[in-house]
Amino acid sequence: MCGIFGYLGPRNDAAHMALLGLKNLEYRGYDSWGVACKTDHHLEIEKHIGKISEVTNLKTELEQADTHLAIGHSRWATHGGVTENNAHPHLSQNGKIAIVHNGIIENYLELREELSAKGFKFVSETDTETIGHLIEFYYQGNFEQAFAKAIQRLQGRYAVLAIHKDHNLILAARKGSPLIVGVGSTENEFFIGSDVPAFLQYTNRVMYLDDDQMVIIGENGAYFLEISTKQVVEKRIITLDLDLESAEKGSFPHFMIKEIMEQKETIQRAINQDTKTIEILAEAIRKAHGTFFIGCGTAGKVALAGSYLFSRIAKKHVNFTFGSEFASYQDFLNEKALLVCISQSGETADTLEAIEVAKKKGVTVASIVNVESSTMARTSDIVLPIKAGPEKAVASTKATTSQLAILTLLAYATANRLKEGQYLLVSTAGEINDMLNPRYEDHIRKLADQIKEVESMYIIGKGLNYAIALEAAIKLQEVSYIHAEGFAGGELKHGPIALISQGTPCIAIVANDETKADILGNAMEVKARGGYIIGISPDNSEIFDYWIKVPDGGNTSPIVNIIPIQILAYHLAIVRKNNPDMPRNLAKSVTVK
Ligand code: F6R
Repeated sequence: MCGIFGYLGPRNDAAHMALLGLKNLEYRGYDSWGVACKTDHHLEIEKHIGKISEVTNLKTELEQADTHLAIGHSRWATHGGVTENNAHPHLSQNGKIAIVHNGIIENYLELREELSAKGFKFVSETDTETIGHLIEFYYQGNFEQAFAKAIQRLQGRYAVLAIHKDHNLILAARKGSPLIVGVGSTENEFFIGSDVPAFLQYTNRVMYLDDDQMVIIGENGAYFLEISTKQVVEKRIITLDLDLESAEKGSFPHFMIKEIMEQKETIQRAINQDTKTIEILAEAIRKAHGTFFIGCGTAGKVALAGSYLFSRIAKKHVNFTFGSEFASYQDFLNEKALLVCISQSGETADTLEAIEVAKKKGVTVASIVNVESSTMARTSDIVLPIKAGPEKAVASTKATTSQLAILTLLAYATANRLKEGQYLLVSTAGEINDMLNPRYEDHIRKLADQIKEVESMYIIGKGLNYAIALEAAIKLQEVSYIHAEGFAGGELKHGPIALISQGTPCIAIVANDETKADILGNAMEVKARGGYIIGISPDNSEIFDYWIKVPDGGNTSPIVNIIPIQILAYHLAIVRKNNPDMPRNLAKSVTVK
């Protein structure tokens, strides 16, 4: 969602640094952006609507300003439309305090009414503006105290940064929305961001702010406190194993295709795990009275695929639900249950809320995550990192296949057949490496060119590949903006087949397993009604109008089958002149409910 950046230190171009930091965070949200900095005894602000990617310099005198303290924000609108007024930073009424904020203040209407009655005037439609006014209301010369009082009035999830024209400080607080402090290379240089890439070009040494804590960043250091008790919290500096290069596009035109191609290595990396943690989680699944696999969006589809993998390989029933639906199952939870969360970012609000529900019932929580420093990883009892490296394109690709690989391995481990699973996945990783060559991409690019004008397309799968049909639909929707829907092949004849007309593309995902005959039969039914059949399969069939060959992956067919669809989605985006890295209306990390 929104991106947050802050800097306080010896460099004197803090406003320009805020711009660069926001550019690195743009994948999180990007309908508008803004920067505020402190110069002598003034606060200066610059805000704009639109993308930051094309901007190289700030447009006002802030670009040249001699400033050591700045904050910035890239916005993904929640409260109020995309206007300059609604863009952050927001000023308090007297103009002395500037605020940036990620999340949602649930009681903002109540606070707004209260502040209006006290004479405060609101110039935006945002929930954020209440925070600046509240701090101003409580301010009696002590910025930290006023900030803490204001934060304690907020309900909801938030990450907030505040600066004051009379104090050389950045104050920050969090609840349910990430904030990470970066420790610079020179003395008393600090960064703060909603995600590490915001400041990775300067430092990879970090300290994490936890929920209900605030940090006071000043010229003499960074001090962490529990907001309610004001008790000082000691933090460890952690050096992250991340480099700038892996977070850059390199020679690729877009992150999406770079990340698709990285699957040559990422699947191998995912399975090169310390098997101890796999075995611990497998044992927890064997013992649990009720295991729930959850995730949202693509990660939700992976969780669903996981439930099929477990049924097939481990002969074990696991429940699947989307993160946002999990609370409906809370009556079935007790201390013997197990929640397994799947997430790339580890910051998805719906999944984090499910964890809160589970924890209240004493449930053990495991997470399969990419961002190892995320809230989800840090609040889980068991963590299986997927090691895919930074995923920056909004549409998930390499994280998806790495999550699938880990779930496959876990299913084998649960069946006490870990070695067999490792052997299968190593062989699949090798086949994917061979498959991802320029000729293969070109074959799919031609298909994209051929179907670029269609209004709708459908994807069918069965068994292990039912979830992949659903995931394929999301991928196509997200970046091509073509209406795409995924179905269980057998369901078509119960209604959706009415949507098929002459030339409607239908992707049939045909695995070489017991579902093959059925799914080919379903594809035939579509073809008989004029549908254009794109077969994704190890073997060609006369039913297919266009065949995309995939390796015969056996139980890894979900992994191999989604990759050509990712490539198709990417090339459809390109021929339809969409930016695949930044699809409209979407954000990489969905930190609001
Ligand atoms: C789709 C996509 C989203 C995410 C979803 C959950 O390509 O990326 O649907 O899968 O927002 O995000 P994470 O995995 O970060 O929890």
